[in-house]
Amino acid sequence: MSTRRDFLKTALGATAISFLAPNMIFGKDIMGANDRINLGVIGVNSRGLTLAKNFGVRSDCKIAAICDVDTRAIEKANTQLNDKLGYVPKNYRDLREMLENKDIDAVAVATPDHWHAPACLLALKAGKHVYLEKPASYAPAEGEMLVRAAAKYNRAVQMGSQRRSMPKVIQGIKELKDGIIGDVSYAKAWYTNTRKSIGHGKVAPVPEWLDWDLWQGPAPRTEFRDNIVHYNWHWFWHWGTGEALNNGTHMVDVCRWGLEEEFPSFVSSTGNRFTWDDDWETPDTQLINIQFPSGKMLSWEGRSCNGAHSTQDPVGAIFYGTNGTLEFSEYNSYKVYDIKGNLVKEVKSDAQTDSRDISNPSGSLDNYHFTNFFDAIREGKKLNQDIDSGHKSTLLVQLGNIAYRTGTSLQIDPSNGHILKNKAANKLWSRTYEKGWEMKLD
Ligand SMILES: NC(=O)c1ccc[n+]([C@@H]2O[C@H](COP(=O)([O-])OP(=O)(O)OC[C@H]3O[C@@H](n4cnc5c(N)ncnc54)[C@H](O)[C@@H]3O)[C@@H](O)[C@H]2O)c1
Repeated sequence: MSTRRDFLKTALGATAISFLAPNMIFGKDIMGANDRINLGVIGVNSRGLTLAKNFGVRSDCKIAAICDVDTRAIEKANTQLNDKLGYVPKNYRDLREMLENKDIDAVAVATPDHWHAPACLLALKAGKHVYLEKPASYAPAEGEMLVRAAAKYNRAVQMGSQRRSMPKVIQGIKELKDGIIGDVSYAKAWYTNTRKSIGHGKVAPVPEWLDWDLWQGPAPRTEFRDNIVHYNWHWFWHWGTGEALNNGTHMVDVCRWGLEEEFPSFVSSTGNRFTWDDDWETPDTQLINIQFPSGKMLSWEGRSCNGAHSTQDPVGAIFYGTNGTLEFSEYNSYKVYDIKGNLVKEVKSDAQTDSRDISNPSGSLDNYHFTNFFDAIREGKKLNQDIDSGHKSTLLVQLGNIAYRTGTSLQIDPSNGHILKNKAANKLWSRTYEKGWEMKLD
């Protein structure tokens, strides 16, 4: 006999039909308790805890489990989730054990970047749908494998680039495509912040609250140092991907979407660590320039340690066309200017957001993306940012980092995004794994 859980597992298949109440209203889903999606959240120190809270307040979601290798993060999450949701989810330290739990329909992955693709692949193999925080992967080869894995295991994989589901961003992109600023030739995105020094770390005993072996997981082993866990891993190439993939992914994705492009033909990048003398390895100031075979251009400017910005928004994406300019500010809003720069239209957001809030930059607006993810799981609706699209946007900034790290400009095959005739750059297409932790599709 077919059960609800069987249905959830085939909902993306050809035979999927909608059996849930058709009267779903955003934020007030009318459905019985049996129709809830049981979600497991992996990595709950910061972003994952926000995801657990924001998913958990939905009437169609139960946070069935949380998983973390830091016992303090689990305790903090238990307390805050109990306060907010009125229950404590099941706790796990090892995500492989959590994935064996047959009651879990879907997982959210909010670990450091080196774990994103390996965790997603394990989840797909266990039959789970995945809400995968950006960036889709640490290295391009991993993203390609996830695209194949999502198809092979027939599960929804939504990248956590939440702007893809915000109504006014969707509306602005439609206006671009309808020609509101004429032919669009160039899109520019930026991110600015005033991040502090991470100092010089020292080798230290592994704290009793941390499973350092599982934290490292697929990454080759190193000694524990006291300025990596949490968050600072972003700035070390061994685990992190720098500001380009941390925050660049969001707006570069909006640019690629508005330009209606897929793979580029040329990528270059310059940058440096200018501001502090410390262990931070990735650039704190970086420019990435991308050209597509159509000739359209995309650039990204990241300044991690200088928060000045030329428009009113610390984060944004702007499109230049033959008849005018369209600018997306932080979240769910945009402005249109004529060719001389006079404001001709403004679509404002009604939500309170703070792009400098590292765990919850887009507040309640995340819920649009969650709804799209759940609709894909239950009704087979198209994902607004499936892994194929998520990989293509992540790849643009990955190529930028590869150009920066090798000090070379990259010629790219626009049919698949692969780097042409550049041995040093191609070495960074994939990563070296800790023995036994290699990603394998079969
Ligand atoms: N979409 C957004 O707006 C947004 C916002 C913030 C962060 N993020 C993304 O979320 C991810 C997490 O960011 P963060 O700021 O919360 O980082 P963080 O370092 O504060 O937290 C990561 C957590 O993952 C845990 N972890 C590590 N390995 C694990 C494993 N094997 N199993 C279970 N847990 C494990 C760590 O112990 C930690 O608690 C990043 O990839 C980041 O890019 C997205």
